Amino acid sequence: KRHLVSAADLSRDDALLILDTAEELAQLSGRAVKKLPTLRGRTVVNLFFEDSTRTKTSFEVAEKRLSADVINFAAKGSSVSKGESLKDTALTLQAMGADAVVIRHHASGAPARLAQSDWLHGSVINAGDGTHEHPTQALLDAFTLRRHLNPGLGNDLSGRRVTIVGDVLHSRVARSNVLLLNTLGAEVTFVAPPTLVPIGIEHWPCEVSYDLDAALAKTDALMMLRVQRERMNAAFFPTEREYARRYGMNGRRLARLPEHAVVMHPGPMVRGMEITAEVADSPRCTAVEQVANGVSIRMAVLYLLLGGATLADAPSTNQSE
Ligand code: CP
Repeated sequence: KRHLVSAADLSRDDALLILDTAEELAQLSGRAVKKLPTLRGRTVVNLFFEDSTRTKTSFEVAEKRLSADVINFAAKGSSVSKGESLKDTALTLQAMGADAVVIRHHASGAPARLAQSDWLHGSVINAGDGTHEHPTQALLDAFTLRRHLNPGLGNDLSGRRVTIVGDVLHSRVARSNVLLLNTLGAEVTFVAPPTLVPIGIEHWPCEVSYDLDAALAKTDALMMLRVQRERMNAAFFPTEREYARRYGMNGRRLARLPEHAVVMHPGPMVRGMEITAEVADSPRCTAVEQVANGVSIRMAVLYLLLGGATLADAPSTNQSE
């Protein structure tokens, strides 16, 4: 495969290969091998039309750890503000020899458009497009789940129960997760206010509930979603107090989760809305760990899409610069 646009692009074997490769790369980092030569001489462009803290930074760290030449392109401050199109931006990057483009865009479908075009010859990696998909987030979430639920290398998440809570309507994280978790054998339940459930959800491979308290006892991992006010008409904002009461994760609900269950959050979190500070700062919340795992997953994706070397070629000593 040359591109990663959707979690639906990944077969079970593809997903397991990425997860296992990420695990090996994480273990190399743990053994102080900070830098691999795999992408030496390759150019990766991070093309961000929408704000990002975690995804942009972790892709950059991953690219540098693989020794790629990294170009960071933010739409703000570029000729996009003068009206330049995605096509002309892509042709410009191609002329500069981009081997891969990591793209975040406010328009659902922008990465697929790039991948299907002949504007770019390299790989296209979706770093989040509108309300559509965020496949590397789903991969890092699956990696985090595997580590906590202990199925081990080569194994999927068969029979594990994941509850995804909140603004499913606007969430590309929810879309990519339901696809990937299903591919990996997990059972997914969405819990959301009726106004934040997408039309057609009955065709998704998940259960739907409106009652968070009823879902707690039968979950291995709870994934909290932010209410994406920036994608809503102000008239439809839920009030913070009412939303938190019905759909927020708090200490009382944490106590009702099974002992082994974890609370996940892709970030950015809005403390006091979908999650209290007590839960966000508790050892059972994996939000920061998910960010660290994102570096390993993004290294694995770049490595498998662009790399030629095998992991056996990795140096055994620290090659930090
Ligand atoms: N989870 C996530 O995509 O975060 P950023 O928007 O900060 O990249």
